Amino acid sequence: MEQFFLKHRKMRHLIIAPLLIAAATWLTLIGVVSSECCNTKATLNYQITYYGCGAVGGRTGDAPGSCNITICANGEVMMGSHCGNGTCNAAGCKCAEGCLQGRWAKDFISKNNEYSIKVVDTIWHYYPK
Ligand SMILES: *[C@@H]1O[C@H](CO)[C@@H](O)[C@H](O)[C@H]1NC(C)=O
Ligand SMILES: *[C@@H]1O[C@H](CO)[C@@H](O)[C@H](O)[C@H]1NC(C)=O
Repeated sequence: MEQFFLKHRKMRHLIIAPLLIAAATWLTLIGVVSSECCNTKATLNYQITYYGCGAVGGRTGDAPGSCNITICANGEVMMGSHCGNGTCNAAGCKCAEGCLQGRWAKDFISKNNEYSIKVVDTIWHYYPK
């Protein structure tokens, strides 16, 4: 009889341990996945002297002399719908090389330093459309 209980206690561990490991893995994955989404982008409202908005990849804004460009952290125009480095899934997550890194407007200005650019406003977007 005693042996029967011992056997069952062992079996319970054999069943519960993998479940705990699976749950921990799942929670870890959830955290990793959400932190790997690259949906933060910024629309810069800028002014450029002597050239058109398109000279640095933007387009005409709402007011005369005002331009718009939506960039990623590396200061470059956003390609597609997210700011991932490498390919991402449809939601902009799990990007091959993580998110593009950089200093946003500072990088936009320094990458285009042959132009005279004044960033008037930065509008942040945190979610996919
Ligand atoms: C310029 O960007 C602002 C902020 O995102 C937006 O409200 C506005 O519609 C944009 N204008 C044009 C012409 O794209
Ligand atoms: C993109 O990923 C590559 C490889 O990891 C890295 O060298 C590069 O700096 C990344 N680019 C940006 C803008 O984060």
